[in-house]
Amino acid sequence: MKSSGPLLLLVLLAAAGPSQAQFRTSLLDLSGILPSLSRPANHSRIFYAVMFDAGSTGTRIHVYTFIQKLLPVLDNEMFHSIKPGLSAYADHPETAGETVRMLLKVAKKTVPRLDWKRTPLVLRATAGLRLLPAAKAQALLDQVQLVFDESPFLVPDNSVSIMNGTSEGILAWISLNFLTGHLNAHSTKTVGILDLGGGSTQITFLPKLRKTIESAPDGNYVARFDFLNSTFELYTHSYLGNGLMAARLSTLGALGAEGLEWQVFKSSCLPSKFRDDWSFGGLTYQVSGDQDGRAGYKHCYQEVLQVVKGIIHQPHELEDSNVFYAFSYYFDRAVDAGLISKYNVQGGTVRVRDFKKRAKEACNKMTEYPAVSPFLCMDLTYITCLLKDGFGFKDGTVLQLTKKVKHVEASWALGAMLDHFHNLKIH
Ligand SMILES: *[C@@H]1O[C@H](CO)[C@@H](O)[C@H](O)[C@H]1NC(C)=O
Ligand SMILES: *[C@@H]1O[C@H](CO)[C@@H](O)[C@H](O)[C@H]1NC(C)=O
Ligand SMILES: *[C@@H]1O[C@H](CO)[C@@H](O)[C@H](O)[C@H]1NC(C)=O
Repeated sequence: MKSSGPLLLLVLLAAAGPSQAQFRTSLLDLSGILPSLSRPANHSRIFYAVMFDAGSTGTRIHVYTFIQKLLPVLDNEMFHSIKPGLSAYADHPETAGETVRMLLKVAKKTVPRLDWKRTPLVLRATAGLRLLPAAKAQALLDQVQLVFDESPFLVPDNSVSIMNGTSEGILAWISLNFLTGHLNAHSTKTVGILDLGGGSTQITFLPKLRKTIESAPDGNYVARFDFLNSTFELYTHSYLGNGLMAARLSTLGALGAEGLEWQVFKSSCLPSKFRDDWSFGGLTYQVSGDQDGRAGYKHCYQEVLQVVKGIIHQPHELEDSNVFYAFSYYFDRAVDAGLISKYNVQGGTVRVRDFKKRAKEACNKMTEYPAVSPFLCMDLTYITCLLKDGFGFKDGTVLQLTKKVKHVEASWALGAMLDHFHNLKIH
């Protein structure tokens, strides 16, 4: 099955949008290296593939359009998302199926009817489902499988599953390096990735120093995948429970808490007069600021430090060897903090100290001004703490924030599509 997919790895080209005046960049020119085309010459010139990203805070659909030139070319990506994520329906799996059915409408609109039955559907779930009891997660996956099976699209083997954190980190690294043109036979430089989801956070980079691999903790900190007859060995780790929403829970002391009906979870990272309900992963919590007046950046930093200290490993090498692309909540919160414009999806560069500066402002003005978002202080302080005391980035380290690269979403989804067709043998 895998080898019969379109040979996307031959040449993957991204276009500057769906218009005709397209600017294309060769991301991976392997002409003459790999075997001939896998698709018969009389197939339609355009074909499609659909990847669902079932995350902890939302479900997203990516519909990829490829053009069969001499070699397949990625022409366009249609992207759409729905909140909340599947895990919010842990006790109502049918409703979870309904969100997937709604998103399938996007696929039906994008893919011409005649192509439906040869367009593959794949769904990969991440931290939201990893955090659920196995039986509840399985019930959700079963519902999705039902919706897929009833759909007019192609449903390959293993089309619905939970992806582990190692794959999530590696596939995001592959996506970003494809899109930035760093993943080809001749490239010696690559970029590292920082992905901050709702439930988990990933760091992945290609180390220059042997010591980085050797000094990594035992367990899932080093992973390999096969590509171009060589094996890439990456430093990668996914921290379950350290995504932005899960970190809010821990900061509030609400992780795994019982008695949600009567308990109020307090934090000095919230405005002191603030009190509200807040939901994540299908549960609702009463949260409030600290009425005794403990508020502001310093108090907040001490609180979020508990979520990071002794949990996040600091790699042996970091800023010296890699440019890091930071996306998902890193991008969204940088927009909320006014560090970059939301209209600039290509993103921009910020320094770690910029997050710190905005965190201080958000936290120290919190009591005087009605906050943009009551969680802005907590989120920015957590991001600052994660980068500095967690991974060990310096104040002056420059990060490349991004949402889209060459009009394709910065996420693991494109890498997962490639893996689905080509089995990159992550191990
Ligand atoms: C495509 O080519 C195959 C093999 O040559 C042939 O059997 C098939 O009928 C062709 N299909 C169309 C739609 O022309
Ligand atoms: C990979 O190895 C195979 C078998 O040894 C060889 O035929 C092929 O040319 C190699 N491909 C590359 C990209 O080096
Ligand atoms: C993660 O999943 C991949 C693909 O299914 C598998 O090859 C790998 O061994 C898994 N890694 C871990 C740490 O479970």
